[in-house]
Amino acid sequence: MAGEKVEFTREKETLLATLYGRAAHSRAGGTVLRDPLAERAVERIDYDFHRLRMRPVDALAVAIRARAFDVLTAERLAALPGATVVHLACGLDTRVHRLDPPPGVRWFDVDYPDVIELRRRLFPPRAGYTMIGLPATDPGWAALVPGDRPLLAVAEGLMMYLTAAQVREVLGVIAGRSGSGEFVFDAISRAAVKLSRLQPQIRVTGATMRWGLTDPAEITAADPRFRLVRQIFYSELPDVARFPAGYRAALAVVNRVYFLRRVGRILDYRF
Ligand SMILES: C[S@@+](CC[C@H](N)C(=O)[O-])C[C@H]1O[C@@H](n2cnc3c(N)ncnc32)[C@H](O)[C@@H]1O
Repeated sequence: MAGEKVEFTREKETLLATLYGRAAHSRAGGTVLRDPLAERAVERIDYDFHRLRMRPVDALAVAIRARAFDVLTAERLAALPGATVVHLACGLDTRVHRLDPPPGVRWFDVDYPDVIELRRRLFPPRAGYTMIGLPATDPGWAALVPGDRPLLAVAEGLMMYLTAAQVREVLGVIAGRSGSGEFVFDAISRAAVKLSRLQPQIRVTGATMRWGLTDPAEITAADPRFRLVRQIFYSELPDVARFPAGYRAALAVVNRVYFLRRVGRILDYRF
C-alpha cells in the first residue's frame, strides 16, 4: 500500500537509499540486520526506489554500516550509564526500535523538519523517545535535550555532506551542551569525497559530499574538547566477510594500505 508521497532531493533524498538498503537486505533474509519497520516503510512510501539503482551488494554495504553503528551505540550506551542518546541526521533509520533500549534511556532523533514529519507518520511512538525537526548545526536541538546526564551523540552518513565550517558547528553544539559524553560518527577520505560524484545514488539525487577526513587529529584541531577514543575502518568490520569473493579480495588490499583504508571509517570521540 503506497501512501506517503515523498519529494526529497539532494542530501535528504539519500536517506531513501539507506532506508531501501536496510529494507531490501532485511527482506532478502537479513543475515547482517533485520529491520521489519524499514521493510514496511518502503512499502508505504510513494517513491520510485528503482531510480536509486541499489544492487543487493549496495544493500549489504548499508546493512553492514548500520549494524556496526548499532553495535557501537549499544556498547557505548552500556559504558556511559544513564546517557542520553542523540541520533543526528537519523533520516528514516529505525535504530531506536532495533536496539530497543529500556524506557529509562532518553533517545532523541534529529533531522530536518520535513524528514521528521515523515518519520512521525511512518514509525510508532515509544516511551523515552522524542523526535526533533532541526538541522544538526542548530543549537536549538541541544536546548531541547536535558543536560543532566552524559550525552551519546551518533551520526551515521551525515558528516561527509557538511562543509568544514558546518562540521565545526556540529562539534560546537554537541560539546557546548553542559557535561561530557561521546560522539560516534563516520567519515570518508578526501579522495572518496572527490570520487563520490561517480556513485549512482549521489548522481541521481544531486547530493554533494563536501567534507573528508585524513587524520583524526583534525577533529581535535577543529575543537580541542574532542579526543579520539577509537576508530574502526569500514574494511575491517567483521561483516565484510559476507561480501562476494571479488569484493573481499579488494577489501583485503584496502585494509593493508592506510591511504586506502581511510576511505571510510567510524570514529568515537570523547568530549
Ligand atoms: C545518507 S542519509 C543518512 C540517514 C540515516 N542516518 C541513515 O543512515 O539512513 C543523510 C541524512 O543526513 C541528513 N542531513 C544532511 N544534512 C543535515 C543537517 N545539516 N542537519 C540534519 N540532518 C542533515 C539528511 O536529511 C539525511 O537524513
